[in-house]
Amino acid sequence: MNIAVVGGGTRCRVLMDSIEKHTFREISPKVVAVADPKDDAPGLVKAREKGLFVTNDYNDFFDRDDVDLIIELTGKQDVYEDILLKKKETVRAVNHKTATLFWEFTLASRIEQKATRKLQETRAIYNVLINELIQEDVIVMATNYRILDINQTLANKLGIERKDAIGRYCYEILHHESAPCSGEEHPCPLVQTVATGEPFRVTHIHLDKNNKELYYSISCYPIIDNGEVVGAIEIARDITKDISIQKGMMQYDKMASIGRLAAGVAHEINNPLTTILTSAMLIQEETDPEDSNYEELQIIADEALRCRKIVSSLLDFARQSEPVKAKNNLNKVVTESVVLTRKQAAFNDVAVEESLSEDLPPINMDKDQIEQALINLILNAIEATDPGGKVTVGTSYFPDADGVELTVSDSGKGISEEDIGKIFDPFFTTRESGTGLGLAITHGIIEQHGGTIEVDSKLEQGTRFTIRLPLTKQGGNDDH
Ligand SMILES: Nc1ncnc2c1ncn2[C@@H]1O[C@H](COP(=O)(O)OP(=O)(O)OP(=O)(O)O)[C@@H](O)[C@H]1O
Ligand SMILES: [Mg+2]
Repeated sequence: MNIAVVGGGTRCRVLMDSIEKHTFREISPKVVAVADPKDDAPGLVKAREKGLFVTNDYNDFFDRDDVDLIIELTGKQDVYEDILLKKKETVRAVNHKTATLFWEFTLASRIEQKATRKLQETRAIYNVLINELIQEDVIVMATNYRILDINQTLANKLGIERKDAIGRYCYEILHHESAPCSGEEHPCPLVQTVATGEPFRVTHIHLDKNNKELYYSISCYPIIDNGEVVGAIEIARDITKDISIQKGMMQYDKMASIGRLAAGVAHEINNPLTTILTSAMLIQEETDPEDSNYEELQIIADEALRCRKIVSSLLDFARQSEPVKAKNNLNKVVTESVVLTRKQAAFNDVAVEESLSEDLPPINMDKDQIEQALINLILNAIEATDPGGKVTVGTSYFPDADGVELTVSDSGKGISEEDIGKIFDPFFTTRESGTGLGLAITHGIIEQHGGTIEVDSKLEQGTRFTIRLPLTKQGGNDDH
């Protein structure tokens, strides 16, 4: 469509520029002529530069055959009426008001398009933040602790719908509290971020539904609008595993150094102990049982024997040898361990029961070491249980986790909260005749098998030790 413009001012020039830039879908408009009484009018100058028809008198348009539309941009009603009178019938005419209307309409829709595009871009970024791809918990909050949104990961963890979290208080949803977090141990990241306008990081300890401690590393970032903090984005990561690995490494280091020391001492003590024991026994043989010394010699022999037991445990604990692994049936190891502890069980009048999984795959392990670990747990359980009580040893298979679980549960006296953190430490014992090495040895053996050992206990109700052994990730001399 060929256009002739009457009035070559700025508007004419802008019109020509935008027609050049814009891609039209249905018509192809093209300015072919411009009329203006002034030679230096910007639209006229541009048209001249482009080699188009230019004139100081719009009447020149009416003889032309290449004009389909005349646009009047002077804003003068009489000019428009004059055009309407003189133009050929086939030529259309538009006055400046109609032209302006269409002009503004196009401009408005372009601004809208730009805004929509911007919104779509922002939404795309926002969706990444909020969807399940991000494994961290994400919360968007207003400064008054109200939740504006949470990501799908957190919604899944909390077992609620995203929309149900919106509008509620963060402390209510996350901590089941009726007031915001406070205090030096648990400073509220939102308060800190709002006060300073800066990101804030903190580690919080949350309790899960079983009262187990979960460590969360929380980073809070301010949302700033027009220089004012209007809310914050909180990103929280569960670092419980990292912390327990760190603790495990510390425990491993501690055990390794104590192990080296213990091995040295045990080795040196073993020979003199044997001498003491045999000497006491020899003298006792030559002594009349009625003699008062006979009893004293018995005490020397008994105590020397007890020392030998401690030394042998120390040597077990300090044993640096790698496990010699082969495919074994864990259920069989359980049954053998139960048989070996039968005497102590009968002595304490405690029943030891087995609850074995039938579909257990063979496991790559050092049978003797696992048996020793298991015996330590069973003996502890028997010791802790009153006559008439029960100890259960169970195995289960978890194909999804690619591992097996071994549990030793008792209905005994339980372990106090104060002690529970220390039970794996070497030499920690609450028993008069204990060495405190049983669990330290067990821990070391399970670790050497790439497994984990956990304890759950309630005072006066009982204790459960859970050993998890991996199937495919096991180190050592795997035979497949
Ligand atoms: N099943 C259990 N119930 C209650 N307390 C337990 C249980 N198992 C372990 N404990 C606690 O953990 C402590 C450490 O256990 P560990 O087996 O390491 O040493 P111990 O049994 O005292 O001595 P030993 O070296 O002869 O085994 C025990 O003294 C006891 O206080
Ligand atoms: Mg023990």
